[in-house]
Amino acid sequence: MRLIAPSLLAADFARLGEEVRAVEAAGADWIHVDVMDGHFVPNITFGPAVVEAVRRVTRLPLDVHLMITEPDRYVADFARAGASYISVHVETCAHLHRSVHLIRDAGARPGVVLNPATPVETLEWVIADVDLVLVMGVNPGFGGQAFIPSSLDKVRRLRRLITEKGLQTLIEVDGGVSAKTVGSIAAAGADVFVAGSAIFNSDDYPAAIRSLKESVTA
Ligand code: DX5
Ligand code: ZN
Repeated sequence: MRLIAPSLLAADFARLGEEVRAVEAAGADWIHVDVMDGHFVPNITFGPAVVEAVRRVTRLPLDVHLMITEPDRYVADFARAGASYISVHVETCAHLHRSVHLIRDAGARPGVVLNPATPVETLEWVIADVDLVLVMGVNPGFGGQAFIPSSLDKVRRLRRLITEKGLQTLIEVDGGVSAKTVGSIAAAGADVFVAGSAIFNSDDYPAAIRSLKESVTA
């Protein structure tokens, strides 16, 4: 599967509804929502109320990326707000298996996220329970950072693990995805490509999304 998920972190927050509609019309497959708490990452963004508002203006799946400590406390709120996927960082969950099942029980699809320094092996005993693994291509917190090349090897290793176990788990990559990097990320085995600045910093969203899709399939 090859899907493009624009990250609202790089959108114009004063015109958030319009921005969501614009990327939907431009060919986006999912909408990626970065939730940051100023503790796990040094930046603060949206909460469930914003997810609920975004839910009202699009039919696309909402891909909610929780960069917060104690994510279990907020899972039900984000599910109720209309999140389709909820992903938690491995680094924030002492009981990752429990967090994943909390997400599914709340009615959303669970995902787990690996920071650049976190190994794939942390997922071995939970990967069969998740719909999505998100590999960070940068250290989380900000848009517009350069892609960390070692993430490609991590995607390859993850693809091997998923194949070995005979699973359908999606691999998503977030951070530093651009028309330049997306081809090698796709070749490494990723399915879903999150792009913030590569889409929202362009003045032609359909062209930006088209160029990502073309580089993925090239
Ligand atoms: C980073 C966020 C990303 C961010 C990506 O912490 O999780 O989703 O928006 O931004 P770009 O695509 O500009 O690297
Ligand atoms: Zn993200």
